[in-house]
Amino acid sequence: MTLDTRPGTLFNEEDSNTTSNPAFEQVLATRLSRRSLLRGGAGVAGATVLGTTALSGCATSGPTAAINTLGFKPVAKSIADVVTVPEGYRVQVLYGLGDPLTASTPAFKNDGTDSDWAHRAGDHHDGIEWFSLDASGQPSRTFGSRGLLAMNHEATTDEKLTSFFIHADGGKASLPRPAAEVDKELMIHGLSVVEVQSDGKQWACKTNSPFNRRVTTMTEALISGPAKGSEHLVTKYSTDGTKARGTLNNCGTGKTPWGTFVSGEENWFGYFHRDAEDDTRRKKDKHVQALNRYGRKAGAASRHGWESAGSDDRFVRWNNGALAASAKEDYRNEMNTFGYIVELDPYDQRQLLRKRTALGRMGHENVTFAKPVAGQPVVAYMGDDARGEYIYKFVSSAKWDPADAAPTNRMAAGDKYLDKGTLYVARFKDDGTGEWLELSMDNPVIANSSYFEFKSEADVAIFTRLAADAVGATKMDRPEWGGVNPRNGEVYITLTNNSNRTVATADAANPRVYTDMKGSKEQKGNVNGHIVRFVEPTPAANSFKWDIYLFGAEANADRATVNLSGLTADNDLSSPDGLVFSPATGICWIQTDDSAYTDQTNCMLLAALPGQVGDGDKKTLKYGDKTVTTHAGKAQTPATLKRFLVGPRGCEITGLCETPDGRALFVNIQHPGENTRMADVNDPSKYESQWPANAGYGAGRRPRSATVVITKNDGGMIGT
Ligand code: FEO
Ligand code: CA
Ligand code: CA
Repeated sequence: MTLDTRPGTLFNEEDSNTTSNPAFEQVLATRLSRRSLLRGGAGVAGATVLGTTALSGCATSGPTAAINTLGFKPVAKSIADVVTVPEGYRVQVLYGLGDPLTASTPAFKNDGTDSDWAHRAGDHHDGIEWFSLDASGQPSRTFGSRGLLAMNHEATTDEKLTSFFIHADGGKASLPRPAAEVDKELMIHGLSVVEVQSDGKQWACKTNSPFNRRVTTMTEALISGPAKGSEHLVTKYSTDGTKARGTLNNCGTGKTPWGTFVSGEENWFGYFHRDAEDDTRRKKDKHVQALNRYGRKAGAASRHGWESAGSDDRFVRWNNGALAASAKEDYRNEMNTFGYIVELDPYDQRQLLRKRTALGRMGHENVTFAKPVAGQPVVAYMGDDARGEYIYKFVSSAKWDPADAAPTNRMAAGDKYLDKGTLYVARFKDDGTGEWLELSMDNPVIANSSYFEFKSEADVAIFTRLAADAVGATKMDRPEWGGVNPRNGEVYITLTNNSNRTVATADAANPRVYTDMKGSKEQKGNVNGHIVRFVEPTPAANSFKWDIYLFGAEANADRATVNLSGLTADNDLSSPDGLVFSPATGICWIQTDDSAYTDQTNCMLLAALPGQVGDGDKKTLKYGDKTVTTHAGKAQTPATLKRFLVGPRGCEITGLCETPDGRALFVNIQHPGENTRMADVNDPSKYESQWPANAGYGAGRRPRSATVVITKNDGGMIGT
């Protein structure tokens, strides 16, 4: 395609961390004075080098059928408008944008005239998780032919740039936006739960399942954890700051040890508008600093102009200005009600969505849990996806009770483990170690900060990025999905790319700065991304040892400076984003959301059998007078990393889950054809993609985000 930058990527890049952290020495001095007294200095003793043998027995039991061989032939790179999987595999489209979730909702016409969006699949399928049902429809941990798929509907295409396929004529981009269009857009964001079943040959959605559910930007949610009742969450909708309306831009997902679905609110800030006078009106108080830090400068246009569609509350709420006499009468704080991990019980529609504020407010990608250990805290890892943002970890106050693996009240278990605990942010040191820096009022760097005024734990939970700035966290190359290797408990986080990385800011954990050509276009910085991993003595520890498991690169890029993992045509990739370890096979599935290598290939899914932290060597990169020495994992071969799937044109491959037996793999294909031009909305011959219609799925020719299910012809485990 000729458009230079895909809008999906623009959304992810519209924000970046341009702050400079306070000088580290100053931070360290303050922290030493307090922490060494309180905690025997454990928190700052991160220079201690940890061996993998230091791992406790916490997560070493491994997957049920760990494999040592990737038993399929690699799929070639492709720009065809098709989902390609290896020989011996079958791919079936299962659940597309607009598919009905009730028996009374009409079939999807896919021509922009469909209605009843509260009962249809939303747009931009993203993170996805599997929840088994047994033959009698009760929650199960093991059943493999019937279950619920809970997933995110992250976004929709940007009407200002490309075709808006949910509207008959492609939508009206100029302001004011038509209320009828905005009403649709409000409903296609959020989450969905859909029951699916296999008859042994085919999978199908159960349109009439009582479990089917939509959560949208309009669904009531409870504020939970330290920010509940905060003055910064007071809105006209919730004058006591205990409720929020809806969830937005939900990206990655996770599954809790107690069997619920968790989802990260990612690029929510772009949906809000503040007029040019708002800084003055707010007297440039601390909220202005926070709004700017979170990507909303006064005068910034909102992504879809929802605030312009009329005087009704459902539109006005997207205007984040301090417009009335008090916060109880306007939506100046509405943006503060987004940016959290939300928890949903997919099995129980009576349970309201919870915003788990203890896990901080940021551009959340996903949440991944360390394997819980009886009597130890529950630990979760998270990335904040914007250029120069950070990696976080949450450690619960409550200790894990194995009885909670099958609780009678799943959301009560969520309350127990996710509402009280300690949030940390990562600092990566050049020597290959790192430390977790505490984000709480117990840390004097935060309590006494001159950088931002923190008055309470609620402030830390709401203004988390500023707390992380204050303690001197390491700015990373866009932290995306995390996963915990079931073989050894090591934690992997994808760093998708960073056009802002420069020689001046290159460091051991974000070491590459180079130029790659896409046709005649120069792409700079960390163009193709990498995957960092770390090992901790125990998941709750304050220190870790890290290396870079994988460097994304084009196969023919220079092996001394760019293609540091030795990728070949069978496994080269750009912009790793989704990362999910299979509990059944131990395979590390890696998905791409790329715009750098798309002249050569559509986005893809790869299967990996990773080693362990420290299995490679140091590598030194020279940039003029500056040298950067990084810690690279061992080079890859097609035996350890192999391309499994390539998607249709214009898509991102994102979200992956499987049945407990590992024999059905569900993968989301997001925004195929998104570079189609507005003027071509009713000319299928000019669509960038006609998938999944061209795979025989559904009416119309307009491209649709959809879930596919992959099975092996011989009924075996996927990837083996
Ligand atoms: Fe929604 Fe960071 O990708
Ligand atoms: Ca290139
Ligand atoms: Ca993503």
